[in-house]
Amino acid sequence: MKYNFCGKSGLQLPEISLGLWHNFGDVDSFETATSMILHAFDNGITHFDLANNYGPPPGSAETNFGKVLVKELKGHRDELIISSKAGHLMWDGPYGDGGSRKYIMASINQSLKRTGLEYFDIFYSHRYDPQTPIEETMQALIDIVRQGKALYIGISKYPPQKAIEAYEILKSQHVPCLIYQDKYSMLVREPEKEHMAINEKYGVGFIAFSPLAQGVLTNRYLHGIPENSRAHKSHGFLQESEITSEVIKKVTALNNLATQRGQTLAEMALAWLLHNKQVTSVIIGTSSLAQLKDNLKAKENSKFSTDELELIERILA
Ligand SMILES: NC(=O)c1ccc[n+]([C@@H]2O[C@H](COP(=O)([O-])OP(=O)(O)OC[C@H]3O[C@@H](n4cnc5c(N)ncnc54)[C@H](OP(=O)(O)O)[C@@H]3O)[C@@H](O)[C@H]2O)c1
Repeated sequence: MKYNFCGKSGLQLPEISLGLWHNFGDVDSFETATSMILHAFDNGITHFDLANNYGPPPGSAETNFGKVLVKELKGHRDELIISSKAGHLMWDGPYGDGGSRKYIMASINQSLKRTGLEYFDIFYSHRYDPQTPIEETMQALIDIVRQGKALYIGISKYPPQKAIEAYEILKSQHVPCLIYQDKYSMLVREPEKEHMAINEKYGVGFIAFSPLAQGVLTNRYLHGIPENSRAHKSHGFLQESEITSEVIKKVTALNNLATQRGQTLAEMALAWLLHNKQVTSVIIGTSSLAQLKDNLKAKENSKFSTDELELIERILA
């Protein structure tokens, strides 16, 4: 595994991290979840990405991860970077959603309890909340670090101008933002417009989520929608309507290029992100050990010729 320094910090993250958004809840196989976590760690994936609401039911991914930690990874805490987040709907009423100090403080306490951890390595504001002053959300994050409940803080899905404001507030209080997390893949290029340059300027790392567009950038949907796929599951966030014939046309062309490179499409789509120096780490999500093994192979060839890069752009245009 290659480890990249996260922005201008001294923290190194594996170029591939494992996310527990889907596939690690109580609706999923605990045995498969355990085997994926352990295989990841054995192969140098030191970073595991959680959030309060991951499941389903919400909270169960943290509880299950905590069980694996106690049972299988005791004694390895100092080799692990574990993140969690608060920002999306977690519980009913006015204090279980958004960016208020009340919600963020209550949520990190609940997340620590569920995982059994004494602290998170990284704690995120999961989304920008326009109804809460950004100063309030940032102060809660700063205080979390000062209270020893997290070592570093990050933000996710902030509009560019709000990310700048957040970075300025955090810098002024000597708790610099470690990392910015956003959706980024061959199919979703938004962070290239402004966030990458802003992160570079402020020395903030960038971690990409949904690098395979929730499975669209794999061979999963080339011939329809399989029964056990995310798009088919009622609790899956990927909608069948997102898998249009236009998307599949592009994915098929990318799949042909991947075959020429001797890779699966999943490997090539991840490799394309790994070759980007502005990306600190890529958070994958897998539903089986076979997928995890396949994705780890992306590291073996993340070089692209100019012709290949141009062809990819033409396919995606
Ligand atoms: N900050 C945020 O707001 C936010 C939002 C979303 C995600 N995230 C983080 O990012 C992580 C990853 O997101 P994601 O799960 O959407 O990532 P992803 O890698 O784009 O999608 C994962 C899905 O792709 C399919 N897949 C993965 N490897 C495959 C392979 N080799 N061959 C065929 N299919 C493959 C699987 O689908 P099937 O289940 O159909 O098998 C898997 O569940 C999350 O767990 C979470 O930690 C953060």
